[in-house]
Amino acid sequence: MNTVSSTPSRLLPPRITAGLPLTALAPMQDVTDLPFMRVIAHYGAPDYFFTEFFRVHASSRPEKHILRSIVENKTGRPVFAQLIGEHITDMVRTVKELLHYPIAGIDLNMGCPAPKIYKKNVGGGLLRDPAKIDSLLGALRDAAPGLFTVKMRIGFDSTDNYATVLELINKHGVDLLSVHGRSVKEGYRSEVHYDFIGHAARTVRCPVLANGNITSAQKAAAVLSETGAAGLMMGRHAIRNPWIFRQTRELQSLQSVTPITLADVREYIARLYHETCNADIPEKAHVAKMKKYLNFVGQSVDAEGRFLFDMRRAMTEAELFAVCDQHLLTEPTREFSAEPYPGIIARPNCETPNESCSLDTITA
Ligand SMILES: Cc1cc2nc3c(=O)[nH]c(=O)nc-3n(C[C@H](O)[C@H](O)[C@H](O)COP(=O)(O)O)c2cc1C
Repeated sequence: MNTVSSTPSRLLPPRITAGLPLTALAPMQDVTDLPFMRVIAHYGAPDYFFTEFFRVHASSRPEKHILRSIVENKTGRPVFAQLIGEHITDMVRTVKELLHYPIAGIDLNMGCPAPKIYKKNVGGGLLRDPAKIDSLLGALRDAAPGLFTVKMRIGFDSTDNYATVLELINKHGVDLLSVHGRSVKEGYRSEVHYDFIGHAARTVRCPVLANGNITSAQKAAAVLSETGAAGLMMGRHAIRNPWIFRQTRELQSLQSVTPITLADVREYIARLYHETCNADIPEKAHVAKMKKYLNFVGQSVDAEGRFLFDMRRAMTEAELFAVCDQHLLTEPTREFSAEPYPGIIARPNCETPNESCSLDTITA
């Protein structure tokens, strides 16, 4: 175990380019593991990474595969460890355990909309109970001498508790707040209420990361100006376009945004395949896993969804790459659309609140 000996700082880690808005890769269960972080960093890292959530309960121990994304992370970017749970003793025990690892800070999940999660009053379920949030934030703040951050939605089935929760964020000295601008019941496909993110940015004393449907560097600029947030957190659109963090930095520093070609995307897919491959996964299962990423990538390949249609039928590595070659190398210099084509839906996409955050458990 890699013990961190220095006194933890409450200053946010330096960003890649001083003076630009912060960027973060949104935590995504079954996606934001070590191989995926490596791939993202290759195309232009975000300022911060967040792990998939560590599940906390009476007998839990930090999951080894998630710890790898902290301990073996050579991207040079700080990694916040996200926790999901509600029992204070277990949460505090887990924080103390995670402090032995080189984490940037502890992040609390107050947003997961999967019914099997919120019904246990964890994740997004916490938003129904401000008194519980008060005691949990207080305990975690005391347990975390360094950075303590929160990722939340704007409510459970209404925004009635939003102002109270933001007061609690201030009361407990949270260091960074990520706001996904939807309620738990709104799932993943409703419009995003950027006005509520703006309200948080004006209300809390810590920096706010705006989250939800930030599809491109141009959309990032619009969301920053609408919300006044200190930065941006991108999830699904970083799976679709791993260059999004670099492009956002380019636009924010008034440089031209590097266009991405279909040949670049073919190279990304090959890199993702090889990084996420391991000897324990049979080829068919790995191809199935790749399709989950490619569901997002396919939103920007063609306006008719032909790549998605063919890709979903591939069963072997050879078939998958034959489809990629056909759709991405016939016109290799054609531009990969910066925005998803209208009406091309990624499936699975966490598209209804009845589905889990995990790509593996989603059937759409
Ligand atoms: C597959 C998937 C898994 C997710 N897992 C988590 C998670 O572990 N923790 C969390 O706080 N949010 C999780 N989320 C929510 C994202 O972090 C993010 O808030 C949401 O996708 C909206 O941002 P986006 O439009 O940029 O994707 C997940 C989302 C997806 C699509």
